[in-house]
Amino acid sequence: MSKTEVLTAAARRNMFLSPEALDMIMSNTDPVGFTNTVLSALSNNPIFVTKEDVISFLQGDKKISESPKTFDPHNKKNLDLKIVDGTDITGNSLCVGNVDDFTRYFQSRYQILKKIIERRSDFGPSKKIKDAYSIYDREIRIVGIVSERRITANGHMMLSIEDDGGDRESNCMVFVSKDSPHFNDIITNDMVLGFKGKFTKPRDGNSKKGLFIPDDIIKPGVPQSHQWKDSDSQSVVAFLSDVHIGSKTFLENNWQRMIRYLKENSEKMQINYIIFPGDVVDGIGIFPGQEEELDVLDIYDQYTKLAEYLKDIPDHIQMVIHPGNHDACRPAEPQPALNKVFIESFDSNVLMSGNPVYIKVEDRTILTYHGRSIDDWVSGVQQLTYNDPLRVMKEMTDARHLAPIYGQKTALAPERKDYLAMDILPDIFVSGHVHGYGYMEYKGIRMINASTWQDQTDYQKQHNFNPIPGIMPLVHLGTGSVTMKNFMKN
Ligand SMILES: [Fe+2]
Repeated sequence: MSKTEVLTAAARRNMFLSPEALDMIMSNTDPVGFTNTVLSALSNNPIFVTKEDVISFLQGDKKISESPKTFDPHNKKNLDLKIVDGTDITGNSLCVGNVDDFTRYFQSRYQILKKIIERRSDFGPSKKIKDAYSIYDREIRIVGIVSERRITANGHMMLSIEDDGGDRESNCMVFVSKDSPHFNDIITNDMVLGFKGKFTKPRDGNSKKGLFIPDDIIKPGVPQSHQWKDSDSQSVVAFLSDVHIGSKTFLENNWQRMIRYLKENSEKMQINYIIFPGDVVDGIGIFPGQEEELDVLDIYDQYTKLAEYLKDIPDHIQMVIHPGNHDACRPAEPQPALNKVFIESFDSNVLMSGNPVYIKVEDRTILTYHGRSIDDWVSGVQQLTYNDPLRVMKEMTDARHLAPIYGQKTALAPERKDYLAMDILPDIFVSGHVHGYGYMEYKGIRMINASTWQDQTDYQKQHNFNPIPGIMPLVHLGTGSVTMKNFMKN
């Protein structure tokens, strides 16, 4: 991607980039898309865009996002919805992306997941690698973050792992034979895993460490005690993912059918909450040639149009919207809530949050994550496919991390805390992004991939991608029963 394309994108908006701002933009994986997103978000509409303007956007623009449109749940009869403290990046972004930030970020990931692994009844306290590698005569436990996974010439798996010892002694190689029952475990780079096993003696005098041979490889996982317990709640929560307002293939008729259904049934069924797991609009400059597929070419107009559509949703329903990769937001995750400049026309029953986020709805905890990292899971792990996003969500849950793999399509912002680590276990875990749909129960968690309201686009056709649109998943908060309401049929 050339600098000229970025400068041209800026010039189309009558804006000029300082050399430092241009450098920052060029370090993004999609510089032109990022330029369009950043420049649309700058509320002061500058002619000359500085590095500080870009940084303030990347930080979630504290001034703006500290006061996203919120509602007062106490004003609404019987409604009880709030963002779980400490799980929303909005207004809390502190990183600028330097080396120290990344070191701290991976330490946070390691600490959160190590604690979960050590709490497991089949694991327990672990040793630091530097205190363990000269013990050969007994089984030991270590916890490491995978810095590299590779298959050797003889077909065995070799993992380079490290812990938080902070020096050159704090890493080792883990050898998993092709005959090991763990050889087919889904292990990616940057996962945190527990290992039970023994170190071998070093082979020659030159190396201090032997290999670690694990008998068992333990993921953080979900304890058996995590179960769905029925409650008295009569409310139902609905999910509408990947609405893609502004796209020529937005399914207007099916959307209107869904609205009619809500108008006729939501009060009696007590559908009191709707969560939108990202990509509420189609955005601009998201992929090459996207403008050919857009009905609404201005990002502000796309959000204004969305606000109008949402006014048709019955007033008693509380809604939460968070961004996805098509929204006008920094692409790096965790993403802060949509900027105030885009959401002025929204009613007060719409709450904006970051992505991902945990939401407490009555007595249930819901984790909602758009799902960009599904791209990386699918391209990095042979056993995973786009046709089965629930399998990917299951792997995320076992790894207790939404986007472990660093350096692929999902840009990660190195925040002080790893917001993508699943330190809280939800009752309901929802994602979108792949425009598929599905539901499964996994270890007490209702897992849902929440469809889309966009029909197949030309871009998707070229990439042989078949969406399953027009489905609204409904979850009863008391009993946990899940219904998939299909609005593609009459
Ligand atoms: Fe989408």
